[in-house]
Amino acid sequence: MLVGLVGWRGMVGSVLMARMIEEGDFAHITPVFFSTSNAGGKAPDFGVDAGTLKDANDITELAKCDTIITCQGGDYTKAVHGKLRDSGWNGYWIDAASSLRMEDDAIIILDPVNRDVIDTALANGKKDFIGGNCTVSLMLMAIGELFRRGWVEWVSAMTYQAASGAGANNMRELISGMGVLRDSVADKLADPASAILEIDKTIADTQRSDSFPKQHFGAVLAGSLIPYIDSQLENGQSREEWKGQAETNKILGKSGNDLINIDGICVRIGAMRCHSQALTIKLTKDIPLEEIEAALRESDNPWLDVVENDKPASMERLTPVAVTGTLNVAVGRLRKMNMGGEYLTAFTVGDQLLWGAAEPLRRMLAILQG
Ligand code: HSE
Repeated sequence: MLVGLVGWRGMVGSVLMARMIEEGDFAHITPVFFSTSNAGGKAPDFGVDAGTLKDANDITELAKCDTIITCQGGDYTKAVHGKLRDSGWNGYWIDAASSLRMEDDAIIILDPVNRDVIDTALANGKKDFIGGNCTVSLMLMAIGELFRRGWVEWVSAMTYQAASGAGANNMRELISGMGVLRDSVADKLADPASAILEIDKTIADTQRSDSFPKQHFGAVLAGSLIPYIDSQLENGQSREEWKGQAETNKILGKSGNDLINIDGICVRIGAMRCHSQALTIKLTKDIPLEEIEAALRESDNPWLDVVENDKPASMERLTPVAVTGTLNVAVGRLRKMNMGGEYLTAFTVGDQLLWGAAEPLRRMLAILQG
């Protein structure tokens, strides 16, 4: 299979390449590497000689591929996908960007959760397979089994989203900000007798100063948080919050009367690449907690770490530090709430560059290879 790879050098693309190398995916494909800036240059060697880089805007070259995987971003998708289809190309388009996600002809891919939806789409000749929003994908990797059993009436997801979701420069900005804060009080920190409120005042002054690094986020993240992600919509939701319901239902293949309400507030916090979410789940009936835990533990999801609801286990396994860089999705703090037996709370953590971005793409490629 001739597979065109676009945007392989960026952050999501690099994570994808690393996973494909790790899993030996390149042994099963003939890769063609595209570039928007360096066509004619030497293609990377991930174990196979892939010749030279092709121009990522050359429709004729792209059209030679059986499958194209792009992590180049939404602007590229908008510029190229339509032209390529108009040229008569009928190959598979696998995309990390959101631009095509809600199109009728596009399928949102998260195969551990919606393999049935993907298989039906393939049987019906669908060709556009798009990775979901990271927050949505990670929520479904955590509690997909509860949806599958029909136990979920609605979900409120309050998120704690990592800097990586906003991009590589944003991760740098977060770390720079942390460094600036530390440097501003280094002398006082070194002196155990210094007054904590003086340190605190200096930190606040530093965060509020014009020179504090906030160019990429537009607000201070280090030692603070940002309660707004993506653009502002007319209805008061942010676009990130809107995606929760729209994409979850599309992934699960639900529409009309079947639609499940999902809503919450999406917040950026100073984690590197793990998104966390505090979930309130309204169950369709009062299901015993033990039954819920057993359903999650026994579900067909080898990546799910169901963490006991106790303090040591939560502090050890249910944090961005524990989960980052792994394919594990942790879910814990499972308990019934004061509101009644139909109200379940849960906390979940997952790496937004892996299950939230790269992993569903490479798995879709494997599905196409049968
Ligand atoms: N929109 C997400 C975020 C990442 O800003 O964290 C992409 O799914």
